[in-house]
Amino acid sequence: MTTLRPVTATRYVTPLREGGSLPGLVEADDLGTYVVKFTGAGQGPKALVAEIVAGGLGRHLGLRVPELVVVELDPVVARSEPDWEVQELLARSGGPNLGMDFLPGALGFDPVVHSVDADEASRVLWFDALVENVDRSWRNPNLLRWHRELWLIDHGACLYFHHSWPRAAAAVARPYDASGHVLAPFATRRTEADAALTPLVTPAVLEDVVAGVPDAWLDDPAFATPDDARTAYVDHLLARTAAEGWRP
Ligand SMILES: Nc1ncnc2c1ncn2[C@@H]1O[C@H](COP(=O)(O)OP(=O)(O)O)[C@@H](O)[C@H]1O
Ligand SMILES: [Mg+2]
Repeated sequence: MTTLRPVTATRYVTPLREGGSLPGLVEADDLGTYVVKFTGAGQGPKALVAEIVAGGLGRHLGLRVPELVVVELDPVVARSEPDWEVQELLARSGGPNLGMDFLPGALGFDPVVHSVDADEASRVLWFDALVENVDRSWRNPNLLRWHRELWLIDHGACLYFHHSWPRAAAAVARPYDASGHVLAPFATRRTEADAALTPLVTPAVLEDVVAGVPDAWLDDPAFATPDDARTAYVDHLLARTAAEGWRP
């Protein structure tokens, strides 16, 4: 089982105000720069779990998702922060937070300007349907162009099923509405994407992905232990992969 690479925050650089998750740019002790989603941001640990489980699965499927790390934050970092809002956010976020490798100079993907290969678009759509990603719309694509390639970010709204475990089993084959998906018009090789990606969603891959989630974020009352929660994510995603009805 693989945990995510741990790093320690050394400096808060700037907020990246966009959605509701108050991400910020942070430098760490490995001299890396990360886009960090803080546990104190108020959207709850499930958004961070979704980033790791969906993002990690995407990486295993060969999609470009920047590396995910666990960013350890000592709240003393807040002291040198002039903005009181940021100060409070950091003070509430001591311990592990979620980091994504920052892609410097990346551009937001624009479907009018940038073209996407049909195979790649079909694979991204397939992946988003599997993890029920509602955040890949025209208005809010959460795709970046970097070094002329497409990168996937922001998987916090995936895995809708984990917000209600008692109802999760009934939602295993829930259809995915691809009509607003930014890459749907480019995704003309869906059968081929399904054939290529289905065999890659294995128990070993999913176990590896859920191992990266810190125990502290898996405290759902539906489970006695964090490992029980991990098993439930693996079982749900395997069952969905085997099910019909959701495929785009
Ligand atoms: N790894 C990254 N590299 C470069 N820019 C990023 C990265 N991740 C996020 N961003 C920028 O920050 C914005 C907000 O990040 P995102 O993960 O989409 O959070 P939110 O939940 O606020 O939508 C993105 O739209 C993008 O402009
Ligand atoms: Mg976003």
